Amino acid sequence: MPTKKIIKKKKEEKKPKKSTPTKIVKKENPQKSEQPSGEQRNAKGVRIPALLRGMKDILPKDEGVWKKMYHTAENISEAYGFGRIQTPVLEEASLFIRSVGRGTDVVDKEMYVFEDRDLAKICLRPEATASVARAYIVHGMVSLPQPVKMWYFGSMFRHDRPQAGRYREFHQFGAESIGDRDPVNDAELIVTAFNFLKELGISPVLHLNSIGTADDRAKYLVELSGYLRTKRSYLCEECKKRLLKNPLRVLDCKNEQCQSTIEESPQIVDSLSESSRNFFMKVIEYLDDLSVPYVLRHTLVRGLDYYTDTVFEFYEEETGEGSAQSALGGGGRYDGLVEELGGRPTPGCGFALGLERVAYAIKRNLDKEVKTDVKAKNNQVYFAQLGEQARRRALYLIEDLRHAGTVTYHNLSKTSLKNQLELANKYECPYTLILGQKEVQDGTIIIRDMESGIQEIVDQKKLKSILDKKIQSLTNA
Ligand code: HAM
Repeated sequence: MPTKKIIKKKKEEKKPKKSTPTKIVKKENPQKSEQPSGEQRNAKGVRIPALLRGMKDILPKDEGVWKKMYHTAENISEAYGFGRIQTPVLEEASLFIRSVGRGTDVVDKEMYVFEDRDLAKICLRPEATASVARAYIVHGMVSLPQPVKMWYFGSMFRHDRPQAGRYREFHQFGAESIGDRDPVNDAELIVTAFNFLKELGISPVLHLNSIGTADDRAKYLVELSGYLRTKRSYLCEECKKRLLKNPLRVLDCKNEQCQSTIEESPQIVDSLSESSRNFFMKVIEYLDDLSVPYVLRHTLVRGLDYYTDTVFEFYEEETGEGSAQSALGGGGRYDGLVEELGGRPTPGCGFALGLERVAYAIKRNLDKEVKTDVKAKNNQVYFAQLGEQARRRALYLIEDLRHAGTVTYHNLSKTSLKNQLELANKYECPYTLILGQKEVQDGTIIIRDMESGIQEIVDQKKLKSILDKKIQSLTNA
């Protein structure tokens, strides 16, 4: 802005002597967006403080959608056994430099970093996974039963170029499961995010890949760099720099010019060690058990450095393959993160969904039926399982019930029946389904009436119809 204009404005900002009703004169609003942009002055020419670029106000008229997202996140997280964590918006800048990594756009270009009054180098958090890992170490959560499962709902900050669905302050609903490397955790996180989106009336498409261990990636990088060097002249200017600094990031490039080179690049799955390949196969098997459809996308590497093995992203069905801007969310495994931050070697995985993008999808789908009464008490059951075989079968039965519209609470990491029945009482479920080793072998399941304590053994195939009758009679009573 020219200096002359600034000087003029300062003069005008003096308070008028007499107060007159504020009449807002909009000088410019080129984007015609819902958020006011550009300079605004009242009738006296007094400048009204502007909304910062890339920021937005969430107005009372939008509260319905935000409330729905919060309550759905809360219900589903609790049902899957996650406890809420709230970490500060301000963190040491080094937390993200060490975890998200130098060479990533988030750290190199987008972090809001500044010195506070004590001259400490701090930043507005650009994401929350590193914060949750820090909290895990600082609070000695290693001594709690593993994995420690936590969810969060809050704002993140990235000084990105604002455009549709991309803000400088945005909100995420995320969940992290730290302390256990069983692939069932990856599948459970994916299904948590998947069901969150579905309960909000969105049809998610899951994109899935594995980027293996650091060793697998080192091997792959040699191959990828060799290939990209032969295609250097076809790459955009930014990718030419990436090729030198961090060749894996070339696979994230959205520039049209680079797409055919990226598509034809060597596939990272071919460089996976046997253990990473088996791990990935297990995740896929669990997703098949859960009837979660997925698209295997070999170019999916994610833009943050801490990932190992499983990586995934969610898109909205209509948007399909879309650009990174349209990803509703993403996540993956980060088995080296806690150790990188000074903790013991501890595996972990998680996801985060961008709530502005989810809110936009909800509004677009408003004419579709959205489930509103997720807490209708009669229509909810608790699913208790005992033993590994039962846990695996439970995954399948739970999804069957959920698809048929029964709200099903469970916590797959709990092993004692007593604990699970306590949770069933906490959620005020009228019935608990109990599946043990014997029931898995017999193809049966126990339905326990939580009020009378009476238990009935039923055929798993007839579970839904028997349960429906019981729920119906409760509703009619
Ligand atoms: P991310 O892919 O950087 O992952 O962000 C997750 C989601 O946040 C994106 O898919 C998008 O929906 C939303 N998002 C990101 N940047 C913006 C923006 N500038 N404006 C609006 N929405 C945005 C993470 O943040 C990881 N911490 C996810 C994770 C959790 N991985 C493991 N655990």
